[in-house]
Amino acid sequence: MSEPLLELRDVYADADGVPILRGVSLSVNDGEVHALMGPNGAGKSTLASVIMGHPGYHVSAGRITLRGEDISSWTPDHRARAGIFLAFQYPEAISGVSVVQFLRQAIAARRALSELSVLEVRLELAEWMDRLGMEPAFAERHLNEGFSGGERKRNEVLQMALLRPDIALLDETDSGLDIDALRVVARGVRSVRDANPTMGALVVTHYVTLLNELHPDHVHILVNGRIVESGGEELATTIDREGYDSWREVHA
Ligand SMILES: Nc1ncnc2c1ncn2[C@@H]1O[C@H](COP(=O)(O)OP(=O)(O)O)[C@@H](O)[C@H]1O
Ligand SMILES: [Mg+2]
Repeated sequence: MSEPLLELRDVYADADGVPILRGVSLSVNDGEVHALMGPNGAGKSTLASVIMGHPGYHVSAGRITLRGEDISSWTPDHRARAGIFLAFQYPEAISGVSVVQFLRQAIAARRALSELSVLEVRLELAEWMDRLGMEPAFAERHLNEGFSGGERKRNEVLQMALLRPDIALLDETDSGLDIDALRVVARGVRSVRDANPTMGALVVTHYVTLLNELHPDHVHILVNGRIVESGGEELATTIDREGYDSWREVHA
Protein backbone atom coordinates (compact mmCIF):
# COMPACT_ATOMS: atom_id res chain seq x y z
CA MET A 1 0.00 0.00 0.00
CA SER A 2 1.34 3.40 -0.91
CA GLU A 3 1.00 6.37 1.41
CA PRO A 4 -2.14 8.48 1.11
CA LEU A 5 -1.67 11.63 -0.94
CA LEU A 6 -2.82 13.85 1.92
CA GLU A 7 -3.56 12.72 5.42
CA LEU A 8 -4.77 14.55 8.51
CA ARG A 9 -4.57 12.66 11.76
CA ASP A 10 -6.48 14.03 14.73
CA VAL A 11 -5.71 17.65 13.89
CA TYR A 12 -6.55 20.35 16.41
CA ALA A 13 -6.22 23.99 15.38
CA ASP A 14 -7.01 27.35 16.85
CA ALA A 15 -6.90 31.00 15.82
CA ASP A 16 -6.10 33.71 18.33
CA GLY A 17 -6.58 31.16 21.09
CA VAL A 18 -10.06 30.20 19.85
CA PRO A 19 -10.28 26.42 19.28
CA ILE A 20 -11.74 25.72 15.82
CA LEU A 21 -10.70 22.25 14.64
CA ARG A 22 -11.14 19.63 17.32
CA GLY A 23 -9.68 16.38 16.10
CA VAL A 24 -10.02 16.13 12.32
CA SER A 25 -8.87 12.99 10.53
CA LEU A 26 -9.06 12.73 6.78
CA SER A 27 -7.27 10.73 4.12
CA VAL A 28 -7.23 11.65 0.44
CA ASN A 29 -5.73 9.21 -2.05
CA ASP A 30 -4.53 9.84 -5.57
CA GLY A 31 -7.37 10.74 -7.90
CA GLU A 32 -10.02 11.02 -5.20
CA VAL A 33 -12.49 13.89 -4.91
CA HIS A 34 -13.63 14.59 -1.36
CA ALA A 35 -16.40 17.00 -0.50
CA LEU A 36 -16.45 18.75 2.85
CA MET A 37 -19.85 20.03 3.91
CA GLY A 38 -21.14 21.59 7.08
CA PRO A 39 -22.98 24.55 8.54
CA ASN A 40 -21.53 28.06 8.63
CA GLY A 41 -18.80 28.41 11.21
CA ALA A 42 -18.07 24.66 11.36
CA GLY A 43 -14.42 25.23 10.44
CA LYS A 44 -14.42 24.30 6.74
CA SER A 45 -12.40 27.29 5.56
CA THR A 46 -10.12 26.90 8.57
CA LEU A 47 -9.41 23.32 7.55
CA ALA A 48 -8.40 24.42 4.05
CA SER A 49 -6.22 27.19 5.50
CA VAL A 50 -4.56 24.84 7.96
CA ILE A 51 -3.69 22.37 5.19
CA MET A 52 -2.16 25.25 3.24
CA GLY A 53 -0.23 26.42 6.31
CA HIS A 54 -1.93 29.79 6.72
CA PRO A 55 0.02 31.62 9.45
CA GLY A 56 -3.19 32.85 11.10
CA TYR A 57 -3.96 29.35 12.38
CA HIS A 58 -2.08 27.34 14.96
CA VAL A 59 -2.05 23.56 14.83
CA SER A 60 -1.90 22.47 18.46
CA ALA A 61 -2.07 18.70 17.96
CA GLY A 62 -2.19 16.07 15.25
CA ARG A 63 -0.31 15.49 12.04
CA ILE A 64 -0.68 16.57 8.42
CA THR A 65 1.26 14.53 5.90
CA LEU A 66 1.76 14.76 2.16
CA ARG A 67 2.68 11.35 0.75
CA GLY A 68 3.73 10.31 4.23
CA GLU A 69 5.89 13.33 4.90
CA ASP A 70 5.01 15.57 7.83
CA ILE A 71 4.45 19.06 6.41
CA SER A 72 3.73 20.82 9.72
CA SER A 73 6.84 22.97 9.59
CA TRP A 74 6.50 23.87 5.89
CA THR A 75 5.62 27.41 4.84
CA PRO A 76 2.59 27.96 2.58
CA ASP A 77 5.02 28.61 -0.25
CA HIS A 78 6.80 25.31 0.30
CA ARG A 79 3.43 23.52 0.38
CA ALA A 80 2.40 25.17 -2.87
CA ARG A 81 5.62 24.11 -4.55
CA ALA A 82 5.11 20.59 -3.24
CA GLY A 83 1.78 20.44 -5.06
CA ILE A 84 -0.91 21.68 -2.68
CA PHE A 85 -3.18 24.23 -4.29
CA LEU A 86 -5.58 26.56 -2.56
CA ALA A 87 -7.50 28.86 -4.84
CA PHE A 88 -6.58 32.37 -3.81
CA GLN A 89 -9.17 34.81 -2.65
CA TYR A 90 -7.60 37.91 -4.11
CA PRO A 91 -7.10 40.90 -1.89
CA GLU A 92 -7.77 44.20 -3.62
CA ALA A 93 -4.04 44.99 -3.55
CA ILE A 94 -3.35 42.56 -6.35
CA SER A 95 -5.47 44.46 -8.85
CA GLY A 96 -3.50 45.92 -11.73
CA VAL A 97 -2.05 42.50 -12.52
CA SER A 98 -3.63 40.72 -15.44
CA VAL A 99 -4.86 37.14 -15.38
CA VAL A 100 -2.07 35.96 -17.67
CA GLN A 101 0.65 37.81 -15.72
CA PHE A 102 -0.49 36.32 -12.46
CA LEU A 103 -0.65 32.83 -13.91
CA ARG A 104 2.82 33.07 -15.36
CA GLN A 105 4.24 34.00 -11.95
CA ALA A 106 2.30 31.27 -10.22
CA ILE A 107 3.43 28.67 -12.75
CA ALA A 108 7.04 29.78 -12.46
CA ALA A 109 6.85 29.24 -8.70
CA ARG A 110 5.37 25.77 -9.08
CA ARG A 111 7.04 24.35 -12.16
CA ALA A 112 10.64 24.81 -13.17
CA LEU A 113 10.74 27.82 -15.49
CA SER A 114 12.93 25.98 -17.96
CA GLU A 115 10.20 23.42 -18.27
CA LEU A 116 8.13 25.66 -20.46
CA SER A 117 8.58 28.86 -22.39
CA VAL A 118 6.38 31.94 -22.29
CA LEU A 119 4.94 30.81 -25.60
CA GLU A 120 4.13 27.40 -24.24
CA VAL A 121 2.37 28.97 -21.26
CA ARG A 122 0.36 31.07 -23.72
CA LEU A 123 -0.60 28.02 -25.75
CA GLU A 124 -1.53 25.97 -22.74
CA LEU A 125 -3.50 28.89 -21.37
CA ALA A 126 -5.39 29.34 -24.64
CA GLU A 127 -6.17 25.64 -24.74
CA TRP A 128 -7.55 25.58 -21.21
CA MET A 129 -9.54 28.79 -21.65
CA ASP A 130 -11.14 27.27 -24.68
CA ARG A 131 -11.89 24.08 -22.79
CA LEU A 132 -13.43 26.05 -19.93
CA GLY A 133 -15.48 28.20 -22.28
CA MET A 134 -13.62 31.43 -21.55
CA GLU A 135 -13.17 34.30 -23.99
CA PRO A 136 -9.50 34.88 -24.96
CA ALA A 137 -9.81 38.52 -23.87
CA PHE A 138 -10.29 37.33 -20.30
CA ALA A 139 -6.55 36.64 -20.01
CA GLU A 140 -5.78 40.35 -20.37
CA ARG A 141 -8.27 41.51 -17.79
CA HIS A 142 -7.04 42.71 -14.45
CA LEU A 143 -7.43 40.23 -11.65
CA ASN A 144 -10.57 40.68 -9.67
CA GLU A 145 -11.59 43.92 -11.33
CA GLY A 146 -15.26 43.60 -11.99
CA PHE A 147 -15.15 39.81 -12.08
CA SER A 148 -18.52 38.18 -11.66
CA GLY A 149 -18.82 35.22 -9.29
CA GLY A 150 -18.66 32.89 -12.28
CA GLU A 151 -15.59 34.61 -13.71
CA ARG A 152 -13.75 34.38 -10.43
CA LYS A 153 -14.51 30.68 -10.23
CA ARG A 154 -13.45 30.12 -13.83
CA ASN A 155 -10.21 31.87 -13.04
CA GLU A 156 -9.59 29.62 -10.04
CA VAL A 157 -10.20 26.56 -12.16
CA LEU A 158 -7.85 27.97 -14.78
CA GLN A 159 -5.13 28.39 -12.15
CA MET A 160 -5.67 24.83 -11.02
CA ALA A 161 -5.47 23.53 -14.59
CA LEU A 162 -2.21 25.31 -15.30
CA LEU A 163 -0.53 24.73 -11.95
CA ARG A 164 -1.24 21.00 -12.07
CA PRO A 165 -1.38 20.49 -8.33
CA ASP A 166 -1.20 17.07 -6.71
CA ILE A 167 -4.03 18.09 -4.46
CA ALA A 168 -6.45 20.95 -4.98
CA LEU A 169 -8.33 22.63 -2.12
CA LEU A 170 -11.37 24.55 -3.31
CA ASP A 171 -13.37 26.65 -0.89
CA GLU A 172 -16.69 27.71 -2.35
CA THR A 173 -17.83 30.04 0.39
CA ASP A 174 -18.34 33.11 -1.77
CA SER A 175 -21.78 34.50 -1.49
CA GLY A 176 -23.54 35.17 -4.73
CA LEU A 177 -22.40 32.01 -6.43
CA ASP A 178 -25.16 31.13 -8.82
CA ILE A 179 -25.87 27.78 -10.37
CA ASP A 180 -23.73 28.61 -13.41
CA ALA A 181 -20.73 29.41 -11.25
CA LEU A 182 -21.19 26.14 -9.37
CA ARG A 183 -21.33 24.22 -12.63
CA VAL A 184 -18.14 25.94 -13.74
CA VAL A 185 -16.37 24.67 -10.65
CA ALA A 186 -17.77 21.17 -10.92
CA ARG A 187 -17.07 20.73 -14.62
CA GLY A 188 -13.72 22.46 -14.25
CA VAL A 189 -12.60 20.12 -11.50
CA ARG A 190 -13.73 17.18 -13.58
CA SER A 191 -11.92 18.26 -16.71
CA VAL A 192 -8.74 19.11 -14.82
CA ARG A 193 -8.89 15.71 -13.19
CA ASP A 194 -9.49 14.03 -16.53
CA ALA A 195 -6.28 15.66 -17.72
CA ASN A 196 -4.46 14.76 -14.46
CA PRO A 197 -6.10 11.55 -13.23
CA THR A 198 -4.00 11.33 -10.06
CA MET A 199 -4.95 14.77 -8.79
CA GLY A 200 -6.80 14.67 -5.49
CA ALA A 201 -9.33 17.33 -4.56
CA LEU A 202 -10.95 18.54 -1.38
CA VAL A 203 -13.94 20.67 -2.25
CA VAL A 204 -15.54 22.69 0.52
CA THR A 205 -19.16 23.41 -0.14
CA HIS A 206 -22.57 23.65 1.34
CA TYR A 207 -24.20 23.46 -2.04
CA VAL A 208 -25.60 20.07 -2.87
CA THR A 209 -26.02 21.27 -6.43
CA LEU A 210 -22.27 21.31 -6.79
CA LEU A 211 -22.00 17.71 -5.66
CA ASN A 212 -24.67 16.57 -8.10
CA GLU A 213 -22.35 17.79 -10.84
CA LEU A 214 -19.08 16.79 -9.25
CA HIS A 215 -19.84 13.24 -8.05
CA PRO A 216 -17.34 13.14 -5.19
CA ASP A 217 -15.92 9.81 -4.06
CA HIS A 218 -16.37 10.76 -0.41
CA VAL A 219 -18.52 13.27 1.45
CA HIS A 220 -17.66 14.45 4.96
CA ILE A 221 -19.79 16.48 7.33
CA LEU A 222 -17.92 18.90 9.57
CA VAL A 223 -19.79 20.20 12.61
CA ASN A 224 -18.12 22.18 15.37
CA GLY A 225 -14.62 21.41 14.19
CA ARG A 226 -15.13 17.65 13.93
CA ILE A 227 -16.01 15.32 11.09
CA VAL A 228 -19.21 13.80 12.41
CA GLU A 229 -19.99 11.59 9.45
CA SER A 230 -18.39 10.40 6.23
CA GLY A 231 -20.07 8.63 3.38
CA GLY A 232 -20.68 8.60 -0.32
CA GLU A 233 -22.63 10.96 -2.51
CA GLU A 234 -25.90 9.85 -0.89
CA LEU A 235 -24.85 11.68 2.27
CA ALA A 236 -25.16 14.96 0.41
CA THR A 237 -28.70 14.04 -0.58
CA THR A 238 -29.57 13.38 3.06
CA ILE A 239 -28.19 16.80 3.99
CA ASP A 240 -30.24 18.37 1.25
CA ARG A 241 -33.38 16.77 2.62
CA GLU A 242 -32.77 17.09 6.35
CA GLY A 243 -30.23 19.86 6.85
CA TYR A 244 -27.58 19.70 9.55
CA ASP A 245 -29.89 19.81 12.55
CA SER A 246 -29.60 16.19 13.61
CA TRP A 247 -25.79 16.41 13.65
CA ARG A 248 -25.81 19.81 15.31
CA GLU A 249 -27.82 18.59 18.27
CA VAL A 250 -25.55 15.66 18.93
CA HIS A 251 -22.28 17.51 18.43
CA ALA A 252 -23.00 20.96 19.86
N1 LIG B 1 -8.77 34.16 12.59
C1 LIG B 1 -9.78 33.79 13.39
N2 LIG B 1 -9.84 34.21 14.68
C2 LIG B 1 -10.83 33.82 15.49
N3 LIG B 1 -11.84 33.03 15.10
C3 LIG B 1 -11.84 32.57 13.85
C4 LIG B 1 -10.83 32.93 12.92
N4 LIG B 1 -11.09 32.33 11.75
C5 LIG B 1 -12.23 31.64 11.94
N5 LIG B 1 -12.68 31.79 13.18
C6 LIG B 1 -13.89 31.18 13.75
O1 LIG B 1 -13.82 29.79 13.58
C7 LIG B 1 -15.07 29.26 13.23
C8 LIG B 1 -14.97 28.52 11.92
O2 LIG B 1 -14.77 29.45 10.86
P1 LIG B 1 -14.64 29.00 9.35
O3 LIG B 1 -13.50 28.05 9.23
O4 LIG B 1 -14.59 30.20 8.50
O5 LIG B 1 -16.01 28.20 9.15
P2 LIG B 1 -16.77 27.78 7.81
O6 LIG B 1 -15.85 27.97 6.65
O7 LIG B 1 -17.14 26.36 8.04
O8 LIG B 1 -17.99 28.63 7.72
C9 LIG B 1 -16.04 30.43 13.20
O9 LIG B 1 -16.70 30.49 14.42
C10 LIG B 1 -15.14 31.62 13.01
O10 LIG B 1 -15.68 32.77 13.58
MG1 LIG C 1 -15.95 29.07 5.03
